[in-house]
Amino acid sequence: MLIRLQKFLADSGIASRRKAEELIKEGKVKVNGATVTELGLKIDESKDVVLFNNKEVKKSEELEYLLLHKPKGYITTVKDQFGRKSILELIDTENRLFPVGRLDYDTSGLLIITNDGELTYKLTHPKHNVEKTYVALVRGIPSNDKLDKLKKGIKLEEFTTAPAKVKIIETKGPNAVLEIKIREGKNRQVRRMCEAIGHFVIELKRTAIGEIVLSNIKEGEYRSLSQKEIGYLKRI
Ligand code: URA
Repeated sequence: MLIRLQKFLADSGIASRRKAEELIKEGKVKVNGATVTELGLKIDESKDVVLFNNKEVKKSEELEYLLLHKPKGYITTVKDQFGRKSILELIDTENRLFPVGRLDYDTSGLLIITNDGELTYKLTHPKHNVEKTYVALVRGIPSNDKLDKLKKGIKLEEFTTAPAKVKIIETKGPNAVLEIKIREGKNRQVRRMCEAIGHFVIELKRTAIGEIVLSNIKEGEYRSLSQKEIGYLKRI
């Protein structure tokens, strides 16, 4: 069967489909010995030989879907220039897994990790704006007026946020714990939203992605997603 090269790369767990397109354009992929830089080539999985960074890419037999409770102090990319620890160090697997979306170095909470490039592509595409729930400990206690600004949408540097669901869950001395539900995922969005109303984020944790909840997984630990959860994500 003929399939597009970027889909083949995504299905084999190399990267999301979008990232696979970039890898092709960057000249990192060869088919039957020749470097391919144009998108659109279709390959026959049963006979064509695909190399990524000069290593043969095999179609992944087994798709793996994990839910990790990311601790603070880990990056969600494979490595960075500062030598910081990567969440992939926490996972014991033979497969080449990658996270669906990202969380900041200082943010903890729910992260889905998989080698299903199709699902990653879908879930990180702006049009599938699934609701994500965050719990933020902020300095001070925001007034209702300020919370209304977040609920309506607030101007950050380069864009105005869409309406959000925001409530105070509890107060802790002079500080407040907020629950914030957003469908977007711009860089450091929750921190920047809180700072825009004058409340610095002391701690931030993601507790849910749509119906998938972190529940009682300890920091640094992970579990497999259930068939029901995988089905739900695929239907989003
Ligand atoms: N918003 C943030 O500010 N940081 C994250 O890691 C996720 C959402």
